Amino acid sequence: MLFAPTLVAWQRRHGRHSLPWQNTRDPYRVWLSEIMLQQTQVSTVLGYYQRFLQRFPTVSDLGAATLDEVLAMWAGLGYYSRARNLHACAQAVREQHGGEFPRTALALQALPGIGRSTAAAIAAFCFAERVAILDGNVKRVLTRLLAFEGDMASSAQEKKLWAVATELLPAAPDMVAYTQGLMDLGSGVCTPRSPQCLLCPVSELCRGRQLGDPTRFPVKTKKLKRSQRENWWLWLEHEGQVLLQQRPAKGVWAGLWSLPLFEDEAALQAAALGLELGVGQGLETLPRIQHALTHFDWTLHTQRAELSCRPPEAQFQGQWVARERLADYALPAPLKKMIAF
Ligand code: ADE
Repeated sequence: MLFAPTLVAWQRRHGRHSLPWQNTRDPYRVWLSEIMLQQTQVSTVLGYYQRFLQRFPTVSDLGAATLDEVLAMWAGLGYYSRARNLHACAQAVREQHGGEFPRTALALQALPGIGRSTAAAIAAFCFAERVAILDGNVKRVLTRLLAFEGDMASSAQEKKLWAVATELLPAAPDMVAYTQGLMDLGSGVCTPRSPQCLLCPVSELCRGRQLGDPTRFPVKTKKLKRSQRENWWLWLEHEGQVLLQQRPAKGVWAGLWSLPLFEDEAALQAAALGLELGVGQGLETLPRIQHALTHFDWTLHTQRAELSCRPPEAQFQGQWVARERLADYALPAPLKKMIAF
C-alpha cells in the first residue's frame, strides 16, 4: 500500500468535491479561497467568497478597487493584514503581470501575502504542478504518518518535513486530488485531539498510530511562559573597595560573587539605614539591567553608596575587593555589565 495513490483514490471517492473554489482552474478563485481559508473556517468563508466574486469578478477588478472598499468587504473575517495583502497582490497581478497570475509556485510565492504553502496549493490546483503544501493541517497528517519526531518549532526540522512532503508527491495528473486529499484528511479525519483513525484511508501506514498515540505528533516544544522577576543590588564602596558577597551553593548564580541582593527597594533601604554615607551623599540610582534567563526575565536595579567608613561586619558580611581586582572574582554576567558601566 502506497500513501499517495491511496489518498488520491480516497479523495476521489470520499473527499469534498463541491466547494465553490473547487472544479475551477482559475487561479484568482483558488487564490482568493486559500487566503480566506488561512485563518477562517469553511462555513464562514462561503458567504464572503461569493460576495467578493460578485463585487470583484476578476483580479483586475480587485486591484482597481480602493483599499477601503476591500477592507469593508473583508470586515468580519479578521486578520486584516490578509485584506491589505490581498489588495496589494491584486494590484501587482494587474500592474506587473497583465492581469494574469503567474503559473508556477515559485513565481506565485513572490507576490504579497502568498507564502510557500499557499503558492503550492494554487500551483497544484490550477496548473497540476508537483509541489508540496505544508500548512498546519498537513504538518499534523504527515508527522503522524511518519512518527516524525523533529520539533516543529525548529526551522531545520520543518525544512526536513518539507523535503518529506515533496518525496511523497504523486505524478502531476493526480496533484489536484492529492492536494485536496491532504486538506480533507487533515480537516475531517486526522483532527488535532481525536483523530478518526477508523475512517482513515492510510491508517495501516500510519507509524504514529502503530506507536500507539498519533496525537503525540507533531512534536512542538512549548514556549515557556516567562515570568518576570525584579531585585535590587546594593553597591557599597569605600576607598576604592566594593563589598562582594558569595551566593549560596544552590539557586541562581550558585557560588558566584555578587553585590548584596534584596527582594525589593524597601528591603534595600532598610539595610542601608545607619550606613555612613559620604557627606551630603545619598544613594545613587544606576541604570537598570535586563537579564534574560531560561525561565524568567530579570530586572536588576542598583543603588550605589559611597561610604565614609566601612560598616561593621555584623551588618554587612562579605569581602571588600578593590575595584581593579573585581575581574579576579567569578561574577554573574549582568554584574560584569553593571561594573563596566
Ligand atoms: N483550506 C484551505 N484550502 C482548502 C480547500 N481547498 N478546501 C477546503 N479547505 C481548505
